[in-house]
Amino acid sequence: MEKIKIFDTTLRDGEQSAGASMSVEDKLLIANKLDQMKVDIIEAGFPYASKGDYDAVSEISANTKNSTVCGLARANFDDIDCAGKSLKKAKMPRIHTFISTSDLHMKYKLKMQKEEVVQAIKDSIKRAKKYTNDIEWSPEDASRTNLNFLYKTIETAISSGATTINIPDTVGYAIPEEFGKLIKNIRKNVPNIDKATISVHCHNDLGLAVSNSLSAIIAGARQVECTINGIGERAGNAALEEIVMCLKTRKDLLPFFSGVDNKKISSISHLVSTITGFNVQPNKAIVGKNAFAHESGIHQDGMLKHSNTYEIITPESVGLSSSELVLGKHSGRHAFKVKLQNLGYKFKENKINELFSKFKNLADKKKQVFDEDLLALADEEQTLRNDNMIELIDISISSGLKKKAIAQVKLKYSKKMISGKSEGSGPIDAVFKAIKKIINVKASLVVYQVNAITKGTDAQAEVSVRLEDDGLNVLGVGNDIDTMVASGKAYINGLNKLFHKKDKAADSKKALNSQAKKIDKHVI
Ligand code: KIV
Ligand code: ZN
Repeated sequence: MEKIKIFDTTLRDGEQSAGASMSVEDKLLIANKLDQMKVDIIEAGFPYASKGDYDAVSEISANTKNSTVCGLARANFDDIDCAGKSLKKAKMPRIHTFISTSDLHMKYKLKMQKEEVVQAIKDSIKRAKKYTNDIEWSPEDASRTNLNFLYKTIETAISSGATTINIPDTVGYAIPEEFGKLIKNIRKNVPNIDKATISVHCHNDLGLAVSNSLSAIIAGARQVECTINGIGERAGNAALEEIVMCLKTRKDLLPFFSGVDNKKISSISHLVSTITGFNVQPNKAIVGKNAFAHESGIHQDGMLKHSNTYEIITPESVGLSSSELVLGKHSGRHAFKVKLQNLGYKFKENKINELFSKFKNLADKKKQVFDEDLLALADEEQTLRNDNMIELIDISISSGLKKKAIAQVKLKYSKKMISGKSEGSGPIDAVFKAIKKIINVKASLVVYQVNAITKGTDAQAEVSVRLEDDGLNVLGVGNDIDTMVASGKAYINGLNKLFHKKDKAADSKKALNSQAKKIDKHVI
């Protein structure tokens, strides 16, 4: 069986999903999980694009143990030098450089002639070699590129020093048979192709990203680029979890393997969805809430008789327990800790104690505690910072069919207890207005989402809010059995993140001090 390298681009192409921007700290959390689950290459960002991307790539480079860390760069020296510098601390650095090769892109986007593109390929790869010998090159819009020109550019890239040739279906236009044929033709017509690994990068505009990637593997590709939950530009990229589980499940037709630890799939899927605020659709393959739910009587009957009747992969294989009910209020700390470890989390002892007491609170209120509840608890803990300025102490709400919603909120802010009250069009509006009033912030709410973590009327609500202030944009998340409390927690989590972002900006200390003065009238 041959190995298929898994190249994860959640932190680069995934972050290009509209509204999915991630902080450096969030990216580090995801990269750490990708490293633990042994993806071969982590594309950590596009360093020249922003300071945040540069910082994320250098932090990830310094902290990654098993995976190659890759930075993206266009075919110019500034981009490449920036990527090279950001990767300085990586044990195994890779530069991924690209340029468009289709007639359409060359004429309208690049405004370059073919010869100029060929020259840019030579120059950019030569420049990248100053920093590393691991160089990936992509002809952007490859699936709509003239074949003879495509062969010529690939040959040039390899003779200039590229070690991986990535063929992107940039606009998700290809059909599986056609895409497989393209890979076969590249192998047949590029004389030096045996000196490089062929990779594919498929977008999902027609819902074919995974099918096209598999077809390419059958035709000879040995690296697949993909993202957790399939996030990415427009309709997204091939989903990592689907590629990995296809290879594992259909060995009869796909005699390949990946080095990825599939048991970590559920926890990383949850983390990415918490950090981006993109809920996974319930029927999403492998990681959707319903992926292992058997609803019809006939199916349930079959499952009870033999699970293979309706289940081709087990929940355990992606890191969920077979029995949905995992822990209850009588479960002990040891069982709780083991359960967290089985779900792919490693916390220090003091954090386990904190989480255990949160779990006990939850188990007191909720009859059944599911894996999904624990994933939410653990990810909330991971994405919370220790140095938060605002802490939610209490919320009480009164609302009804015939009365105005009123919320009373008590917070700890800069070590002072403050409290305030507000009316609202509904209870959530009242909670947010009360918080805004006492903290005295202008932040506007651009997205509000609520999701039931599990089934049942006692399910926890998972709320995410996107806040915008002064050109800064953050995602806040909060979980609780009470949707209003979860909403308040999410709003405060967002405000804390906003304050941290402001804190990083120049003059922010002054701004925060004057902010702290404004709250004095609400001190209790
Ligand atoms: O979709 C695409 O073509 C890309 C390239 C940068 C590989 O993301
Ligand atoms: Zn892409």
